[in-house]
Amino acid sequence: MVCIRQATIDDLLAMQACNLLCLPENYQMKYYFYHILSWPQLLYVAEDYGGRIVGYVLAKMEEESSECHGHITSLAVLRTHRKLGLATKLMTAAQNAMEQVFGSEYVSLHVRRSNRAAFNLYTETLGYQIHDIEAKYYADGEDAYDMRKQLNGKLYRHQHQHQHQHQHQHQHHHHHGGCCSSEAKGGEAKAVPKGAPA
Ligand SMILES: CC(C)(COP(=O)(O)OP(=O)(O)OC[C@H]1O[C@@H](n2cnc3c(N)ncnc32)[C@H](O)[C@@H]1OP(=O)(O)O)[C@@H](O)C(=O)NCCC(=O)NCCS
Repeated sequence: MVCIRQATIDDLLAMQACNLLCLPENYQMKYYFYHILSWPQLLYVAEDYGGRIVGYVLAKMEEESSECHGHITSLAVLRTHRKLGLATKLMTAAQNAMEQVFGSEYVSLHVRRSNRAAFNLYTETLGYQIHDIEAKYYADGEDAYDMRKQLNGKLYRHQHQHQHQHQHQHQHHHHHGGCCSSEAKGGEAKAVPKGAPA
C-alpha cells in the first residue's frame, strides 16, 4: 500500500533524494524549504508501507503575475512504483489545494518535449493543454512545453468571501491562505507566513 499525504519538513531530504534519482533538474535544500514554508498545502508525498518516500510533488503559487495561478515546480515517482496512478494522485492533491486554498484560476508547468510519459500524464489523464513552447528552456538546450490547466478557483474565492462575511457577523476571524483570497486582496493576508524567507 502506498499513501498520498501532505509533506512535512521531515520529508524534504527524501523528496530531494527522489528528485535526484528521477530528474536532471535538481534544487538546493533551501528551495524545498522555501516551498514548504510558503505554501505547505502544495507539497505531497507518496509513502510506501515501510515509510519510504517513493514519489513527490513540489508546487507553488505565482504571485507576481496579474492572474493568480499555481505552478508545478517538480514531480517524480521512483521507477519501482510507476504506472500505479501515484503521479495522478499527487498532481490531483496539489491542484485541489491550489484551487480550494488559494483560489487559483489555472495551474502551469513545464515539461521536456521528449518526456512522453509525463506529457501523456498531463494531457490524457489530467487535461492540460499546450499553452506555449519555450525554445531551449532546459540547461541542455531541449525545448519545453509550457502547459496549463484551467481550475475553478473563482468559485472557491466566492465561497470564502461568503464565509468571511458570515464570520464577521459572528465575531470570528479566520484567515485563509492565499494570494487570491479576499483577505489577500484587501492586503490583510499573504501566502508567505511570518518569518518565512522571501
Ligand atoms: C512522469 C511520471 C511522474 C509518471 O508517474 P506515474 O506514477 O507512473 O504516473 P501514473 O501511474 O499516474 O500515470 C498516469 C498516466 O500517465 C501516462 N504515463 C505514465 N507513464 C507512462 C509511460 N511510461 N509511457 C506513456 N505514458 C505514460 C499514462 O497516460 C498513464 O495513464 P494509464 O496508466 O492509464 O496509461 C514518472 O514517469 C516519473 O517520475 N518520471 C521521471 C520524472 C519526470 O519525468 N517527472 C515529470 C517532469 S515534468
